[in-house]
Amino acid sequence: MPDPNATESMLTETRRFAPPADFAARAHVKSMAQYETLHARSIAEPEAFWSEVASELHWFKPWDTVLEWNLPDAKWFVGAQTNLCYNCIDRQVDAGLGDKVAIVWEGEAVGDGPGGGPEVLKLTYHDLLGRVSRFANVLKARGVKKGDVVTLYMGMVPELAVAMLACARIGAVHSVIFGGFSAQAICDRVEDGKSKLLITCDGSWRRGKVVPLKANVDQALTMTDRVKDVIVFNRCNAGVPMIDGRDHDWQTLVDAAPADCPAEPMDAEDLLFILYTSGSTGKPKGIMHTTGGYMVHTYLTAKLTFDLKADDPDELYWCTADCGWITGHSYILYGLLPNRCATLMFEGGPNHPAPDRFWDIIERHKVTKFYTAPTAIRAFMKWGDEHVEKHDLSSLKVLGTVGEPINPEAWVWYHEKIGGGRCPIVDTWWQTETGGHMLTPLPGATTTTPGSCCRPMLGIDMAVVNSDGQEVPNNTGGILVCRKPWPGMLRGIYGDRGRFVETYWSKVPGMYCPADGARIDPDGNFWITGRIDDVIVVAGHNLGTMEVESALVSHRAVAEAAVVGFPHEVKGTGVAAFVITQGELPEPGSDAAEQLKKQLIAHCGQELGPIAKPDQVRLTTALPKTRSGKIMRRLLRDIAAGHEITSDVSTLEDKGIVETLQRG
Ligand code: WT7
Repeated sequence: MPDPNATESMLTETRRFAPPADFAARAHVKSMAQYETLHARSIAEPEAFWSEVASELHWFKPWDTVLEWNLPDAKWFVGAQTNLCYNCIDRQVDAGLGDKVAIVWEGEAVGDGPGGGPEVLKLTYHDLLGRVSRFANVLKARGVKKGDVVTLYMGMVPELAVAMLACARIGAVHSVIFGGFSAQAICDRVEDGKSKLLITCDGSWRRGKVVPLKANVDQALTMTDRVKDVIVFNRCNAGVPMIDGRDHDWQTLVDAAPADCPAEPMDAEDLLFILYTSGSTGKPKGIMHTTGGYMVHTYLTAKLTFDLKADDPDELYWCTADCGWITGHSYILYGLLPNRCATLMFEGGPNHPAPDRFWDIIERHKVTKFYTAPTAIRAFMKWGDEHVEKHDLSSLKVLGTVGEPINPEAWVWYHEKIGGGRCPIVDTWWQTETGGHMLTPLPGATTTTPGSCCRPMLGIDMAVVNSDGQEVPNNTGGILVCRKPWPGMLRGIYGDRGRFVETYWSKVPGMYCPADGARIDPDGNFWITGRIDDVIVVAGHNLGTMEVESALVSHRAVAEAAVVGFPHEVKGTGVAAFVITQGELPEPGSDAAEQLKKQLIAHCGQELGPIAKPDQVRLTTALPKTRSGKIMRRLLRDIAAGHEITSDVSTLEDKGIVETLQRG
């Protein structure tokens, strides 16, 4: 259960921010009263509501039934046929909007473009249609069929969007792996998805250096022989070795491919993609999303949350996530393009070549809607206001945050320094599993309070309950649930029915349980109080503590490990590892101890990727366990946070251990 004390500081936050009147007047949803009417109706008549939303999109064949619900299995738009790629691209071209910009891409390096600026590429819907169709033909020529899983491990290049859309076009199921993950992660995902084709880049640019994507793939493919074909896009001229018969150059294949490839009519419930996310066991979960429902949910939420205006020629939306995460899937591509808006993709990091890179991009491209993570905002605050103040950010209209709770201080800074005090902030709560936004302010309607993600999206029935599923009183901590099915919900965990039922549908009878704690304040606003499972959210990314523990014990110097989160100034939550060493414990503070810690940090980076690198490692001879053998995680959390020990240690077997751990 969530810690009720965790909400105390939030209760003192009383500032309210109403949407500016001129913004509200032009918004899709203009007032709280209108929101409330729309929301009430969407919950009372979900099928009518969602079918009206779906009617705004293109279907090859309409549905017979909007929803078939056999808990925990939902089928949306049953009997219908559509294609998400068609709705992202062709629908716009067919409507005469082919010359409208769909994707604005900016490369990381500055000085590569004409006139010494960054490299910028603008793809119209028409351009995108050409590129996606050709690449879809490349996939077909390599034998990819409807339902086959294609693995993507690329940097943030336009070709990543092209590859995703090409899969959707022919009904292949993409499995995108974030380019920061390691060879082991690639191997695990390829095996789990039984994927025969992998698309990568020679490398990707990160702060002026090449991340060796192809080398990681080569290493991964020494551990599995599933993959028969690797398509390599040359981004960095890294001159990577190519294996004859297995590796193919992207451009050579594209040049030989025919230009025309009609979008495949897909059943609404055909699998669209799988995307892996961490759970409370060591093994990541392949979250399954299907075509029709996911399309309708991301379309509606993108439109309302960011108040997207298809008919505003200046509308330019930018989400700073990587396409390798659900945020990139839903709110760089799939929710955006069907809204006929331009979406910006940026290849690099926020501080290359200087800490003002994001603000420079917003100023040069005149970005109107901006979506980023609290971790990034806290880093910007630390880097200093001068980097922001150099730039004209007056094009901005709506600011979003996602991935983790935002502390009110960072919220207020974002509002004042980036939004000039005039842009509504939308703090969006959702998950890989939910497909799209579940709780969020609507920028023209909601009076926001810093730190709260406010209200349920239209069509979404969220509540805070006890373990019997009864609503708890206001300002009381409880379990966040969704009581009704929604179109973008996960349809399962790839290859693991039991885990799907157990993880999401067994904690509270009859309701979807995301494993977050929450409370609702007297205004009806939702506050997330933290995870209620063994997952920690580090810099906006889910990380299973078990995953890190498994990585640690795979190191020869480690006998046992326990991993917990602790409050981290920038990342929100940091990773703390408590490690029992194999053999003798090095003297605390000695070179040997420090060296071992460094090795273990690097080892986690190698096994899982940089996100999983512990921020603290404590070496110990034992872990605090209750007499029944359970590790006292709460105590470890206190130690990692440097708190005074308030946990009840009376059940602890060896009381001297606390001191050892604190010295660690
Ligand atoms: C978990 C989901 C949503 C896409 C990125 C992360 C936490 C997410 C918020 C928010 C407080 C948040 C939750 C959730 N989370 N958004 N606005 N406020 N917490 O997706 O990796 O699937 O992680 O992130 O704990 O369950 P994810």
